[in-house]
Amino acid sequence: MRGVLLVGSGAREVAIARKIMGGSSSVRLYCISSVTNPQIETLCHKYFEQSPNNVGGILSVVKNLSIAIAIIGPENPLEAGLVDALEEVGILCVGPRKSVAMIETSKAFARSVLDECAPEKNPKRKEFTSVVGVKSFLQNLRGEYVIKNDGLMGGKGVKISGEHLHSEDEAFAYAKEIINNGGSFLIEEKLLGEEFSLMSFCDGNDCVHMPIVQDHKRAFVGDVGPNTGGMGTYSFENHSLPFLSDLDVSSAKKTNEAVALQLYKKTGEKFRGVLYGGFMLTKKGIKVIEYNARFGDPEAMNVLSLLETDFMDICDAIVSETLSKLKISFANLSTVCKYVVPKGYPTHPAMGFEVGFDSSQENLYLGAVQDVGGKIIATGSRTAATVGIDKSIRVAEKLAEAGARSIKGNLFHREDVGTDALINKRIEHMKSVCGD
Ligand code: AMP
Ligand code: GLY
Repeated sequence: MRGVLLVGSGAREVAIARKIMGGSSSVRLYCISSVTNPQIETLCHKYFEQSPNNVGGILSVVKNLSIAIAIIGPENPLEAGLVDALEEVGILCVGPRKSVAMIETSKAFARSVLDECAPEKNPKRKEFTSVVGVKSFLQNLRGEYVIKNDGLMGGKGVKISGEHLHSEDEAFAYAKEIINNGGSFLIEEKLLGEEFSLMSFCDGNDCVHMPIVQDHKRAFVGDVGPNTGGMGTYSFENHSLPFLSDLDVSSAKKTNEAVALQLYKKTGEKFRGVLYGGFMLTKKGIKVIEYNARFGDPEAMNVLSLLETDFMDICDAIVSETLSKLKISFANLSTVCKYVVPKGYPTHPAMGFEVGFDSSQENLYLGAVQDVGGKIIATGSRTAATVGIDKSIRVAEKLAEAGARSIKGNLFHREDVGTDALINKRIEHMKSVCGD
């Protein structure tokens, strides 16, 4: 039996754990995370309640275990240098070292990597470590801007003019707040278009691309409200999206490939893991919104539901840098994933209430919950995700929606994710952006 370590305990890690245990190799699964996710625990040989960011603590846990490979779910342990530390003690990792993970952990670094390998994919932008020059740059962008806190903010550190920031004074106040909290920020040109995520398995030499997914970052129906970690996602059976051309798809793929290579040139370390390109199709072609150094959440639920190849074979090929020798395939089906989240999420989430669900329900992934004496209690972040899978996206959406509705508690979800109405709105939006 092979010892496999999974780090993290959200719905994304449930999806990963199921794929690890659903393959042909006989695995002894260990999980380390701050809280115990009951769905992962049932798949585990042993679960350790320990912060995924506590590198020293994790090293002392693993030294008594026989672990061949570790799979890192979230981004914070990458930033903390967990992969560097594990690889030093001989544990190979699916997830990049700290210097390479900067493609996610520093937005300024990500923009500079793109400047070197795909400059046309960058929006106009400027980095700030003080508020000096903020007002003139906002004016330079003619009031169409985005302010991004340059730290790991779980998707919640980005404020957009016209949506979250309604005047230069409000923008300046947000910039000042970031500086007063000891941070730095970027101001970017506000891009107009449709977003999509392209994740690629990467071994440092080659990339194998996954189906393209569209996430819904805004909290509420109709794409309004604050930015969240992602409220729901969908993918189409052809692994593209209706508003993307083949050229757009190949441009995104080439960008991920170029970024992986540039990271090696720049840092001397290979990117071994999942490289996540967050793109926007604009009138001027594809632009990069952000890069992540891990599976997206909820995107992981879409693509892993479709993955036909044994997941551990992919992990082995990533760490042994032999991805080019492995044939990786995904089913040609549509998927819709919807998150149910506590009322008030993301700014003032309810928590501590019981979550009711049918534990035999297929395609249900528990996220930010805790088992307290047999009761599943919500802890404030995204509570649970349900996935619908079918040839037709309509059916997939109905399955995901029925799943989301069946989960009880002080919760809400976006009923519009994956519906015909919203997908058509996106197609029309893209046409109007391009001036058709
Ligand atoms: P990020 O954390 O960089 O992914 O940003 C969160 C969300 O903010 C993205 O998914 C976009 O919806 C939005 N966003 C980020 N950067 C830009 C930009 N330059 N123009 C327009 N929207 C953006
Ligand atoms: N769904 C967006 C992310 O995982 O960052």
